[in-house]
Amino acid sequence: MILAIETSCDDTCAAVVDRGGVIRANVISSQGIHDRYGGVVPEIAARHHLELVDVAVEDALAQAGAGLDDVDLVAVTQGPGLVGALLIGVSEAKALAAARGLPLAPVDHLQGHVAANFLAPDPFEPPFLCLIASGGHTLLARVEDHEGFAVLGATLDDAAGEAFDKGARMLGLGFPGGPALSRLAEGGDPRAVAFPTADGVAGLDFSFAGVKTALLYALRDDPHAERADLAASYEHAIVEQLAVRTERALRDTGLRRLAIGGGVAANRLLRARLAELGVDALHVPPPELCTDNAAMIASAARFVTPLRPEEYLGLDAYATGES
Ligand code: KG4
Ligand code: ZN
Repeated sequence: MILAIETSCDDTCAAVVDRGGVIRANVISSQGIHDRYGGVVPEIAARHHLELVDVAVEDALAQAGAGLDDVDLVAVTQGPGLVGALLIGVSEAKALAAARGLPLAPVDHLQGHVAANFLAPDPFEPPFLCLIASGGHTLLARVEDHEGFAVLGATLDDAAGEAFDKGARMLGLGFPGGPALSRLAEGGDPRAVAFPTADGVAGLDFSFAGVKTALLYALRDDPHAERADLAASYEHAIVEQLAVRTERALRDTGLRRLAIGGGVAANRLLRARLAELGVDALHVPPPELCTDNAAMIASAARFVTPLRPEEYLGLDAYATGES
């Protein structure tokens, strides 16, 4: 079994997954503390990981009905993410693996989001196009196999989830703002305001700075504007941009299969809009596998060449006698 740890942002995650991709435990400890600051504070996130990571690992093993003796591979997110936060997960994973002489698989966080699609009971097989939209990332990836992906386009500024969060903040909603803004939008008119969809950005890259600024100006120019209409128009503009790029990527690559991941994949309008693209198959992992989690890291680890203790402990020269 694989024990995986993910601490790249503000969720302290540990999971136990077997080689077949069956999830035995998927523990996610969210740090509600960041709400009051309207965003994740890196230093606070790292401190909380330090307090929570041991318990998350213990809980995951207990839920899986397993002990460390049953684990034959430890996996951990190595990046990208908040450096201090990552460091806690990597240190924990190294310590657990080293104590048992186990191999350690360093996993790319975005490959984790892709690999969420490979988990049982409903694995989605490559090749496919994968749209990853979260609070930290927005990208279109071409996935040809289980080992990696090619980035076809990415955001030039904010991530889509960040645009949702910042828009929600301007509208006086809480953090994380995506779900709250989306709820407010339900009662509004998406055509009320024509917010920009980055039409000037060619190709498959994204840009959300314009729509954010446009909302700021709309609120400044008309402080009494109907909040629900603004939310609906804002959500519509973000979703349109994501959908238009995705459609372009499907056309350019000839791929007919599409997967989505990241927190924004929970957005109902986005799911509905992507379903209209007429692909042969649209795969959306369950919500707890779309947002940050360690089961996706374990899933990716199955296809990574792990490091031996002498490699991850940086003792190569001593272990082999070479210099
Ligand atoms: O993947 P995730 O949990 O963490 C990151 O790696 O960032 O994504 C969180 C992001 C937040 O920006 C949140 O506002 C957004 O996903 N989000 C949504 C929805 N649910 C979560 N955005 C739009 N609509 C939603 N229903
Ligand atoms: Zn993520």
